[in-house]
Amino acid sequence: MKIRVLGSCAGGGLPQWNCGCENCVRARAGDPDVPARTQPSIAVSADGGRWSILNAAPDIRTQLAATAPLHPRPGTRDLPLDTVVLTNAELDHTIGLLVLREALSYRVCSTEWVRRALLDHNACFRLLDGAWGAFGLDRPFPLDRDERLEARFFPAPGKTPGFLKEVAAPYSAEGNVGVRVTELETGKRLVFVPGTREIDAGVRAELENADCAFVDGTFHTADELQRQRPGAPDAFVMAHVPVTGPRGSLETLAGTPGRRLYIHMNNTNPILDANAPETHSVAKHGVEVARDGMEIEL
Ligand code: MLT
Ligand code: MN
Ligand code: ZN
Repeated sequence: MKIRVLGSCAGGGLPQWNCGCENCVRARAGDPDVPARTQPSIAVSADGGRWSILNAAPDIRTQLAATAPLHPRPGTRDLPLDTVVLTNAELDHTIGLLVLREALSYRVCSTEWVRRALLDHNACFRLLDGAWGAFGLDRPFPLDRDERLEARFFPAPGKTPGFLKEVAAPYSAEGNVGVRVTELETGKRLVFVPGTREIDAGVRAELENADCAFVDGTFHTADELQRQRPGAPDAFVMAHVPVTGPRGSLETLAGTPGRRLYIHMNNTNPILDANAPETHSVAKHGVEVARDGMEIEL
């Protein structure tokens, strides 16, 4: 299985247009330790020919332009894209669908909760209606048209996106999920959980059995936003388990086998600085920080 990180930051990216925090200032200035990053998405393929994308970030246009294996064949409109999978209805995971609107040669897969939340409350998403299939939790579905990669959703503790409060159906376990991708021929497993409030028993079991896992790395500490903006919510309230501190994810990740990477870092996160002590500590625990353009082969 081949994996390509299209974007590694959380919503807003790095630098974020309206943010003057230290990381954003340094990224804007071209500091080599704090490279600019786009919003979160990865691409997966069994053979490097056909690809599927996990989450459709607002930056998908530039992400695809920078990723040669996903370009259409010269002289054609044959796009090597089979499926776009959504793990929740947050805008940083879904707005890219509106960029991919000109051709529906691919399909969209999400849970029914996510499908309804977006289609019922935003007319723009309706143009994808015909290509959009819903799958329940723990139900396998083929990712690629050759059926070499099997995907399944598993619950990850989350929340209703702020913009859908009071309009979407009451929050259910389908509102936020992780994805397990299995290469059927080799049994290799990729797990993608860009957002989770905690590493609960279910998420932990997925991590323990994954050859490679991308995990929520939004915040380094629970009070990271509050220290920049008093009154801001803490990481748990925002449904993002912090890397460190009580109930942090790092110790758990360090105790599971396989390749472990943080993704969906908020622009305030010190691990976006390649030389920060926090980044070195994460590395010492055997965990990597995903970077845009990173390639992994399982
Ligand atoms: C999240 O990851 O919690 C959301 O993307 C937050 C947001 O950008 O509204
Ligand atoms: Mn997000
Ligand atoms: Zn910032």
